[in-house]
Amino acid sequence: MSVRSSKAVRRVDSDILIIGGGMAGCGAAYESRYWGRKLKIVLVEKANVERSGAVAMGLSAINCYMGMRWKENTPDDFVRYARTDLMGLVREDLVFDIARHVDSTVHLFEEWGLPIIYDKETGRYKREGRWQILIHGESYKPIVAEAARKSATEVYNRIMVTHLLRDKNDPNRVAGAAGFSVRDGAFYVFRAKAVIVSAGGATHVYRPRSVGEGAGRTWYSPWSTGSAYGLLIQAGAEMTQMENRLVVTRFKDGYGPVGAWFLALKAVATNAYGEDYERRYTEEQRKLYGDYVDSKPFPTCLRNDSMLREVRAGNSPIYIHTEKVLDTREKEELGWEDFLDMTMSQSIVWAAQNIDPKVTPSELQTSEPYIMGSHATCSGAWASGPSDLSPKDYFWGYNRMTTVRGLFGAGDTIGGSAHKFSSGSFAEGRLAGKAAVSFALDHGDGTPEVDDAEVEALRKAVFTPLQTYEVERNLIVRGTVSPTYIFPGQGVTRLEKLMDEYCGGWGQFYTTNEVLLKRGLELLGMLKEDLARVAAQDLHQLQRAWELSHRVWTAEAVLRHTLHRRETRWPGYYYRADCPKLDDKEWHVFVNSRYDPATGSWTMSTRPVHRLVP
Ligand code: ADX
Repeated sequence: MSVRSSKAVRRVDSDILIIGGGMAGCGAAYESRYWGRKLKIVLVEKANVERSGAVAMGLSAINCYMGMRWKENTPDDFVRYARTDLMGLVREDLVFDIARHVDSTVHLFEEWGLPIIYDKETGRYKREGRWQILIHGESYKPIVAEAARKSATEVYNRIMVTHLLRDKNDPNRVAGAAGFSVRDGAFYVFRAKAVIVSAGGATHVYRPRSVGEGAGRTWYSPWSTGSAYGLLIQAGAEMTQMENRLVVTRFKDGYGPVGAWFLALKAVATNAYGEDYERRYTEEQRKLYGDYVDSKPFPTCLRNDSMLREVRAGNSPIYIHTEKVLDTREKEELGWEDFLDMTMSQSIVWAAQNIDPKVTPSELQTSEPYIMGSHATCSGAWASGPSDLSPKDYFWGYNRMTTVRGLFGAGDTIGGSAHKFSSGSFAEGRLAGKAAVSFALDHGDGTPEVDDAEVEALRKAVFTPLQTYEVERNLIVRGTVSPTYIFPGQGVTRLEKLMDEYCGGWGQFYTTNEVLLKRGLELLGMLKEDLARVAAQDLHQLQRAWELSHRVWTAEAVLRHTLHRRETRWPGYYYRADCPKLDDKEWHVFVNSRYDPATGSWTMSTRPVHRLVP
């Protein structure tokens, strides 16, 4: 069989279909099995569930843990924290729901063998910060994946899901998903009573700081390609907060995270001249962003904003003074393990650039924007909350169900609920799994039907890039520049440049305006036309082609949302130069969008932000 033109079609029916085997997908598999003992649960993953998703390379901390058994925090405290950090805009029902369940998830991880670090004096988990605990987490993902593998009836690795399928008899109900095997090129048609999308958020939508041979290096995982959004948008699901892209302050060049250094080791950041700059701009910030500047802790986006002001003032580099805090053997180990557990590249940068963190400070820099629903940001689908907490307009029958019937989400997929991190994503997967089982049992009378003509058209479309290459490669003698097609990597570069220049990437100091955004949308329309001319040399590149497609759909939502919100809500994440102020009178609302697959048109709307926790 030629891998270029496989005609094999494999059909898999199930009760629950889980797309994406990262932390959220593993939680969904585990909990679906608990409530749906006899159900057929199928987990599909584009890599291998053993080491997939953003936690694949390990973590040094779990950033969402309440510590309720030691009365350290309550879910109310956590809602207030997430709300403050997101400048007032979170779905408090969703945030509270994760907070009240997340501790039991962390206890499961420990039971399964994850080494959590204890504080010898208190006998409790050792805290990195108020919400964060320290772990020896290089093997975090394999430990969690084992539980998911044992829970699912079948796990399909190396299947790239390209599209969701809708019910032939009800266009607003999901019927399953389609994709292809990156190993043997077979086309897969999955049907299910309920579908949980737990795919990843998006890197490489914006031009990264890294260049050339280092361009694959980003902080958030480069294999997170916006499938969480690309799949849902095309199926007609309502989306929220897609303008709330995340920019993080990282160690320069290696993208090493700062949490352990600021929170556990109490390192301080200064400008080039050793001055503390973080609260230097409070008065200017207050004029633009109001009382949010007095929030404690200082919101993540405002910390970025202070740093960007300092860089614009010409006072860079910004340094983090590692050399002032590594004064004991224990602290030195903590510092190194922080990176060796999760961001090896940072240790390599230290070695390569002659930086001994005990002697020399390291430079900090703001990253390119990422689109995520799990960190200090909350892009994703507009979902129903839990029945006991959610106000009427946040509830439509099943927890974490999107506006498409039978279509659930978790982790980066669900919007409005920030600061889930790894543990919260798994906990949300559990919540979605439980609800999806209820849905499948309530709708037990047969699996939804798919439209065979639609499936056949999709099968043709999915493999078109292989044919394009096969036929049109003959138009050029050598090289990669063709008069008739582009490769996926070329498409990604074009997308990154466009988003950087028109939608507030680092190249424009994260600044945009209405004119730029409208032109950005026009240029994106042209890129979308050219997606029909993407070529793939092999199945691996075919996967890149469909990842590009998901990234482009994600980018379109980001552009449209950024255009709709006429204010600067999260300075430091992005600035609308034509609406530079935070405007609580008009914009203390969620911006939502819906793409209509029947007409190809987008509708923008706003939804109220309800305050549930005082
Ligand atoms: S990462 O592992 O998630 O990449 P990161 O450094 O961004 O790490 O953050 C770890 C945790 O620390 C997150 O919960 C983040 O919100 C928090 N954090 C990081 N820096 C600070 C800071 N300066 N003040 C308060 N919280 C911080």
